[in-house]
Amino acid sequence: CGIVGYIGHREAFPIIIKGLQRLEYRGYDSAGIALYDGSQINLSKTKGKVEDLQNKAKEISQAGKIGIGHTRWATHGVPNDVNSHPHYSNSGDLVIIHNGIIENYEAIKQELTKRGYTFQSDTDTEVLVNLIEEVKKTEDVKLGKAVQIALNQVVGAYAIAVFDKRKPDEIVVAKLGSPLAIGIGEDEFFIASDASPFIEFTNNAVYLEDEEMAIIRLGKEIKLRKIKDDAVAYPRILELQMNLEEIEKGGYDHFMLKEIYEQPRAIKDTYRGRLLADQGLIRMAGIDLNMEKFLNANRIIIVACGTSWHAGLVAEYIFEDLARIPVEVEYASEFRYRNPVITDKDVLIAISQSGETADTLAAIKLAKDRGAFVFGVCNVVGSSIARETDAGAYTHAGPEIGVASTKAFTTQITVLTLMALKLAKAKGVFSETKYREYLTELENIPSKVEKSLESNTLIEIIADVYKDSTNCLYLGRGYNFPVALEGALKLKEISYIHAEGYPAAEMKHGPIALIDEHMPVFVIATKKGHYEKVVSNIQEIKSRKGKIIAIVTEGDEQVKELADHVIEVPETLESLTPLLTTIPLQLLSYHIAVMRGCNVDQPRNLAKSVTVE
Ligand code: G6P
Repeated sequence: CGIVGYIGHREAFPIIIKGLQRLEYRGYDSAGIALYDGSQINLSKTKGKVEDLQNKAKEISQAGKIGIGHTRWATHGVPNDVNSHPHYSNSGDLVIIHNGIIENYEAIKQELTKRGYTFQSDTDTEVLVNLIEEVKKTEDVKLGKAVQIALNQVVGAYAIAVFDKRKPDEIVVAKLGSPLAIGIGEDEFFIASDASPFIEFTNNAVYLEDEEMAIIRLGKEIKLRKIKDDAVAYPRILELQMNLEEIEKGGYDHFMLKEIYEQPRAIKDTYRGRLLADQGLIRMAGIDLNMEKFLNANRIIIVACGTSWHAGLVAEYIFEDLARIPVEVEYASEFRYRNPVITDKDVLIAISQSGETADTLAAIKLAKDRGAFVFGVCNVVGSSIARETDAGAYTHAGPEIGVASTKAFTTQITVLTLMALKLAKAKGVFSETKYREYLTELENIPSKVEKSLESNTLIEIIADVYKDSTNCLYLGRGYNFPVALEGALKLKEISYIHAEGYPAAEMKHGPIALIDEHMPVFVIATKKGHYEKVVSNIQEIKSRKGKIIAIVTEGDEQVKELADHVIEVPETLESLTPLLTTIPLQLLSYHIAVMRGCNVDQPRNLAKSVTVE
């Protein structure tokens, strides 16, 4: 689910291929490219990776200074060559790429079929390009106008780029729901789902808003219009600060490993300029300016998906424990469809690494419509969620490329901890001494994460023992219950081993039935919290012959006696333990996945940024 386009004075092929590779982290199952060589469009597409596309494209001419490319994550129609993008219109004049879903495509397809159109693929996209062609023909309008009229007839979500071989100095793009950025160079333009494909060529970008379209013509300024009412919109040109090195692997075998190791720095970047421990201060503009909203809130509702949802669960413990504000955590996809009770006394916090997750975005819109104050915790600067929320705080983790989220998780927890501490202080529920103790310890976390990473070699050995397991159980209590969920998610995402996370005490209400000598059980048993209770849970596993791998506090003796393996993390305050206990579980999943020969950075069927619901 990535799009890339180019129009200008350079050869488009290498720019598009490299751009698609930069977007690989978003997850996809097929890829394609279309180029206009001065007399005709040459198109090549295939199921598989961008590398496969590069091979396949040897069959066509790769010349051309205008082109579009796509990586597809199947929504309508199985992943195969025919369903891959780009798609031609029936005349072969128009060619399109599309991210998103056209919901009413069946009805449009029937209508077009009646008018004599035929379809090669099962996709909604091919329907859209033919609708544009039909409008263009019957209304005798230019491409931009035809796109606009057609889009007003479709229901759904999209980011599209389309061009006409009879007018090869122009690409028309439009956006609703899925992201679309335009890079502005000198006499050249780039189109992409995010800025990474064009950052090496230009720092100037325009991000389309929902329901906007742009006509990108060589030698002209970009023309922006509202799709619905044709109103002229003015392009807001942003100067990007992303750096190319940041998005390359930097000597690590995989992005995921690089990102795991970046966590000490990423966490520091998250609190840099915000946490002023020596002054006893936390500065966060988004909270300072809206303090009353938070202090008067009846409750905080947190919405998110996937790993971000797990960060939300940790935040529930932090906010309730430290700031004494009631919190509910919801899957965005459930929240948006269950007619939730929301008032203007509610504060909604949306957590999202990408800032593009469709369900989270929809949950925000719903909450806003019902009067709630909406705060975003995002990593990607300028993303849709960052723009849609009333206020927010960025995690500043830097680009996260590995599909399985790692540094985004720990930096989300860091931001949420800063927020909770700030609110605890403002509410007066924290003494100055306690507050200062937290600030100082938060500053110690990066070096303690560093220390936790030192177990890497031991973890590799443990990974080798359990790499052929078919099932694994992850247990934790209190603050470390969400860490157990996250540990299990990491393992299943990248190694395809079935894994379940559970609150340790719930084990006896079900999962205990699964425990025998073949079941590895990963238990988070750090000294703080419900240590003795977790030790009892470990004993219950041991008496059923389960294999125990425990994450313990440095120097622990009691669990060492019982467990088959222990991995130590430094001691810290209870509410900060997730930032440390998560680390060994990330490394463990990583090594198991590598040993099983899995594609760690792009696990099958998963996408980095889920812009469809
Ligand atoms: C996808 C990704 C996960 C991520 C989730 C939520 O499933 O593969 O890593 O946690 O989406 O994404 P977000 O960008 O909203 O945090």
